[in-house]
Amino acid sequence: MMKPQYILSLDQGTTSSRAMIFNRAGEVAGKAQKAFAQHFPEPGYVEHDAKDIWSSQVSVLAEVLAQSGIAAADIAAVGITNQRETTIVWDRKTGEPVYRAIVWQDRRTAKYCDSIRAAHGGNIRAKTGLVLDAYFSATKIRWILEHVPGARARAEAGELCFGTVDTWLVWNLTEGRTFVTDPGNAARTMLFNIHTLQWDEDLLALFDIPAAMLPQVRSSSEVYGHTSPRFTNREIPIAGIAGDQQAALFGQLCLDKGMLKNTYGTGCFLLMNTGSRPVDSQHNLLSTVAWQIGGETTYALEGGVFVGGAAIQWLRDGARMIREADEINALAASVADNGGVYFVPALAGMGAPYWDQYARGSLFGITRGTTDGHIARAVLEGIAFQVYDIVKAMEADAGHATAQLRVDGGASKSDYLMQVQSDLFAFDIVRPQITETTALGAAYLAGLAVGFWKNTDELRAQWQADKVFSPQLPPERVRHMLHYWGKAVKAARHWID
Ligand code: G3P
Repeated sequence: MMKPQYILSLDQGTTSSRAMIFNRAGEVAGKAQKAFAQHFPEPGYVEHDAKDIWSSQVSVLAEVLAQSGIAAADIAAVGITNQRETTIVWDRKTGEPVYRAIVWQDRRTAKYCDSIRAAHGGNIRAKTGLVLDAYFSATKIRWILEHVPGARARAEAGELCFGTVDTWLVWNLTEGRTFVTDPGNAARTMLFNIHTLQWDEDLLALFDIPAAMLPQVRSSSEVYGHTSPRFTNREIPIAGIAGDQQAALFGQLCLDKGMLKNTYGTGCFLLMNTGSRPVDSQHNLLSTVAWQIGGETTYALEGGVFVGGAAIQWLRDGARMIREADEINALAASVADNGGVYFVPALAGMGAPYWDQYARGSLFGITRGTTDGHIARAVLEGIAFQVYDIVKAMEADAGHATAQLRVDGGASKSDYLMQVQSDLFAFDIVRPQITETTALGAAYLAGLAVGFWKNTDELRAQWQADKVFSPQLPPERVRHMLHYWGKAVKAARHWID
């Protein structure tokens, strides 16, 4: 029989589930995508039905195989990548979730985080590399155990499983036989010690979470189990797991210390490879595990902006200034400059480096001459300014200037946004030919584990630039814009009392 020619990647994101097939050259050979329902039961709450996550994922899996005509026998391995931190608790025997998935954006535990910050924030940061925040899984698990009747007793009796989305998908794909995660996803729970690479007993005690609920932590690239033939006709090895931002870093082939990428998705996530040691950030960035391959762990510094492309969605669905997201570019091009209008996209508070959950989205500098074109520009520039702030924090932590940034994600297709980004930084922005780097990264991790690709050197040759954006704006204009951005951020912060 011929050797399988493809890798299947399952990319479970915040708003949709995707399945993609890649060939040996790292090219896309098939793609299917399905959106699923978002639930906002109360202000600040964001939930998904864990069964929707699974059913949408398994349906795009079937769809991509059917559409591409590629047989399951021609798939060498499956890689998994996922929205991170989102928390699912389910019954070990029946597979029934005990509550909806609490999504990473959910702020319901913010007050609880505030209440323990003074006593525990420093210790949590030292062990996990994270800023104590409702964003991460630990306080979400605790909330479920406190609020779902009987959940704590069942968890203590070993009857419940906790997993981030990777764990939930692998558990379902293997029909409950495999209960695992990778160190990159584990690092986002706020229960995992990134130095010892183990679940941390003190943190489990602090959040009152029984260790019996937790999955086994394996590397990011190895065979964990096989898909059930119920879903793929024949068993296929599941051989790679990485959170979506870590996978994008890998897919961008930022494999050397100092290389960095930014993904312009719902949020924006900038990650820098820091090599074999975690960097203790002095500028409010997160230190996290990027991946572990063959016993070697690679770490990253991360800065996340909660609202990136979601600001464009707001312009479409909330402000209704555009009908399609892409229209923002033509609207922005209808004016010569921002006309003095600045937008702070703090629609869900501000993440790194501010960590201000009480900031809110704000528009400044409106005059009678302001048009929708100026506002469109201000929205795109607002995204770029936030990423600028993160890069500056990262440079301060790393102790050197950045020379270049690799970009991906939906909004990276906006030439205008990329040009402004390069103008602000005064260095080059490089957009690769394949911007599906999240799915590609998971495919690479799975392919390496089964020998589909020999080593990372073979992969490096696959990365190719599509377009390079070089700075064009005069430095005095950039200084002027940054001055007003600084004033706008100051005013938008601590808005909610
Ligand atoms: O940390 C959250 C991140 O993993 C979500 O990514 O692409 O689903 O918005 P995305």
